[in-house]
Amino acid sequence: MDYQQVVDSRHSCRGFSDQPVTRHEVEQIAALAAKAPSWGNTQPWKLYAVGGDKAKEIRRRLVEAMISERPQEPDITMPMGFEEGMSARYKDLGRSLFKVLGIAREDADKRSAHYVNNFSAFGAPCLLFVTVPKGQTSYAVFDAGAFTHGLCLAAASLGLGTVILAALARFPEEVRAVAPIPEDEDMVIGVALGHPDPQAPANTFRSVRQPLEEMLTTFDL
Ligand SMILES: Cc1cc2nc3c(=O)[nH]c(=O)nc-3n(C[C@H](O)[C@H](O)[C@H](O)COP(=O)(O)O)c2cc1C
Repeated sequence: MDYQQVVDSRHSCRGFSDQPVTRHEVEQIAALAAKAPSWGNTQPWKLYAVGGDKAKEIRRRLVEAMISERPQEPDITMPMGFEEGMSARYKDLGRSLFKVLGIAREDADKRSAHYVNNFSAFGAPCLLFVTVPKGQTSYAVFDAGAFTHGLCLAAASLGLGTVILAALARFPEEVRAVAPIPEDEDMVIGVALGHPDPQAPANTFRSVRQPLEEMLTTFDL
């Protein structure tokens, strides 16, 4: 695959088969993602990959925490709202994804079932957690973002599916109870990794991007 093909084949995968991800695949993906640039080559990221019964146990705990409305204590503050343009795109994502999933606006049960599914990582057999050392500037998180995108692109190049999931980082204590990620690291984000389920309607969904002219300003070009 050339770069265009890899970029085009990556999309958020929200339905996985049971086929496990191998340690070799995770190592390949991690090595490719680690080519990401970072401030002064500080490479602030650490990657924790959890499979098998431990991944199932994390998914179970996160769903339970969500359903029992336990207070969310993410290591990194999560957004509560967005400015106008961002907010419009956020709402459009929800509307268009639910349309593909056949979830009506007023169908509260199906909407909440979908939300629960986020915490179950859409059935992914492998969960990735990206951390940075505590007490760093926003640039460490910036670097972790570049690394995380690299994970997703590398997975796509191997035919694997990913979805970056804030849901996986909302109850870090539940993750740490199963996979002891050091307390002196901030869990930036989780990523669900696995083989896409070709039957899952959610996997037919493709998000759209704002027009280039709304995003790009050029000077003297
Ligand atoms: C920081 C971050 C958090 C995300 N959290 C979630 C999430 O909790 N649930 C979800 O379904 N998608 C989540 N996503 C995926 C985005 O919705 C998705 O990347 C966006 O809609 C663009 O679609 P695409 O990835 O298919 O190109 C997250 C993405 C990022 C970068």
